[in-house]
Amino acid sequence: MDSWTIRKVQEEDWPQIQAIYNQGIEDRIATLEEQPKSLEEVKAWLQQRPSRYVVLVTIYEGEIRGWASLNPFSHRCAYTGVADLSVYVDRQWRGRGVGSRLLTALEAHARTHDFYKIVLYTFPFNELGQGLYRKHGFHEVGIFRNQGILDGRFVDVMAMEKLLT
Ligand SMILES: CC(C)(COP(=O)(O)OP(=O)(O)OC[C@H]1O[C@@H](n2cnc3c(N)ncnc32)[C@H](O)[C@@H]1OP(=O)(O)O)[C@@H](O)C(=O)NCCC(=O)NCCS
Repeated sequence: MDSWTIRKVQEEDWPQIQAIYNQGIEDRIATLEEQPKSLEEVKAWLQQRPSRYVVLVTIYEGEIRGWASLNPFSHRCAYTGVADLSVYVDRQWRGRGVGSRLLTALEAHARTHDFYKIVLYTFPFNELGQGLYRKHGFHEVGIFRNQGILDGRFVDVMAMEKLLT
């Protein structure tokens, strides 16, 4: 019987990471990015990260169904204990607990790698994202008004945080 696996990203995963990320870009609910990312761009993003800033994938029936990462919040040393979070689930698998599995594993990694806080930025209208983050104990910090431009229109961006201490 197939079961869910969560592990660190490997080179063979890159095309699926790219495909799932590009779905998030195309759906206009996840990021201010507008253009799909090439495999080269995804590869560069994955290769240039210190191991502390992990990228996890979750696999079911041999396919990656979602991925999540801890990213540097700032280049300043003062913020070395703060991580920024990304999470993307395959379009067909959203709302079925994949993001939740990833967040649980990512938080466990953060706790054992000297992070004391995770922050994230999300669109206020991303209901599934909000549901996931609030379920996992993230609290709204505030909303940046007209923080970005998406398809020529200003969009608000909500900051959320979770203290791990
Ligand atoms: C946002 C995203 C990562 C959430 O992952 P997911 O696998 O779809 O979420 P889950 O199924 O784990 O749901 C988590 C919780 O959200 C809540 N939820 C589910 N559906 C919801 C809905 N329609 N509205 C509000 N909350 C909802 C529930 O509390 C759920 O937990 P529960 O079912 O155990 O009660 C995923 O939908 C996704 O990849 N979306 C596109 C990319 C994106 O938006 N990424 C985030 C960028 S900030």
